[in-house]
Amino acid sequence: MFSWDEYNEDEQATAAPAAAPAPAKPVQAEAPQAAAPEVKAEPVAAKPEAPAGASINPVNPVHRVSGAVTYQSVQAHIDAMNTADAEEEILQGAESRIKISDKAMINCRADVNQLVPFKYDWAWQKYLDGCANHWMPQEINMTADVALWKNSDGLTDDERMIIKRSLGFFSMADTVVANNLVLGIYRHITNPECRQYLLRQSFEEAVHSHTYQHVVQSLGMDEREIFNMYHEVPSVAKKAQWGLEKTFEISNPDFKTGTEESDRAFLRNLIAYYCVMEGMFFYCGFSQVLSLGRRNKMTGTAEQFQYIMRDESTHVSFGIEVINTIINENPNLWDQQMQADARQIILEGLYLETLYARDSMPTGVLGMNAAMMEEYLQFIANRRLTQIGLSEEFPAVTNPFPWMSEIIDMKKEKNFFETRVIEYQVGGALSWD
Ligand SMILES: [Fe+2]
Ligand SMILES: [Fe+2]
Repeated sequence: MFSWDEYNEDEQATAAPAAAPAPAKPVQAEAPQAAAPEVKAEPVAAKPEAPAGASINPVNPVHRVSGAVTYQSVQAHIDAMNTADAEEEILQGAESRIKISDKAMINCRADVNQLVPFKYDWAWQKYLDGCANHWMPQEINMTADVALWKNSDGLTDDERMIIKRSLGFFSMADTVVANNLVLGIYRHITNPECRQYLLRQSFEEAVHSHTYQHVVQSLGMDEREIFNMYHEVPSVAKKAQWGLEKTFEISNPDFKTGTEESDRAFLRNLIAYYCVMEGMFFYCGFSQVLSLGRRNKMTGTAEQFQYIMRDESTHVSFGIEVINTIINENPNLWDQQMQADARQIILEGLYLETLYARDSMPTGVLGMNAAMMEEYLQFIANRRLTQIGLSEEFPAVTNPFPWMSEIIDMKKEKNFFETRVIEYQVGGALSWD
């Protein structure tokens, strides 16, 4: 238990020891106070153009005081700060405050540092939902999985391959998704409540990467084999390569939204990542591992995947909202070419995931086979297409795995898996109702 007494002790313990030799004083400090150079704040340089979403311009881009750094010179530097913008806002009173109508998903000039008033209540609600669903991989009991994995008769070769392939792809995929979020998407979304959710999502992606590492370590797998799979197994490498290609443009530090061309490039990235990387590339591996769990095999791993799946379904629904909001706010972007691009992205994802299904299930396993999985993936592709306003590609297809939907929303599979090892200290962490 943390106490302030311990904190004070730590502070004292880390203070410079009295017996230590005094460091040599910097030359500047030798100068008598009276001889200190005249304190002047650096002249304020011309304001650089503010990035989208930053109404407060950097008024003091030069950070150093002139002359020696003393408390006196620092005070003068702060006193000389140009706050003309803030003073003007005070004079304008409520007129200058951010209004909901000032806010927009992309290319917005309203200050991204001010969270409220909310324009997109759904984004804030998803942030709250994500926090309420907080979990960590160490909370889940892996004991039965370890015993089963180490028992040479515990699983068939096909079942072992399914587990390995899933860990091999997902351990790479969640990291790529996280990098695309923080190096790409976050910079170009100019709405603070959506950024708040993106921060939550980024943490969840870190938890997912942690989970795969935790499972690999718990089962005593060959880490090099699993973590290199995206280089070494063609059906995994192809999906990985596709994801990396789709992040390349918008993660470039020089990339900016604000033209039709760049806004469309950003939209293509959102569709590739939310509708495919998160909305399709998880479905084959997840249904395989969850199917194992339904047969009472690798229940700890399956439960880990179940929690990840629940997070992912919120990520997808958030991303779909963002995509549709951008389209609604910028209808000029959604022309025929863009709609064709969006359809191509989703169908490419479908084919890549189908290749993965064929490769990871050369024969039938767990009551599934590659043909059934293909049908399931076509059902998912239909849903992704219609969610962004496009027509279905496979109108006659039905869902061959209705139990997946039940697991994703975690309503009917009440207490199916092992209970958590630790009750987490966040209120209402898991609702099984
Ligand atoms: Fe994830
Ligand atoms: Fe995700």
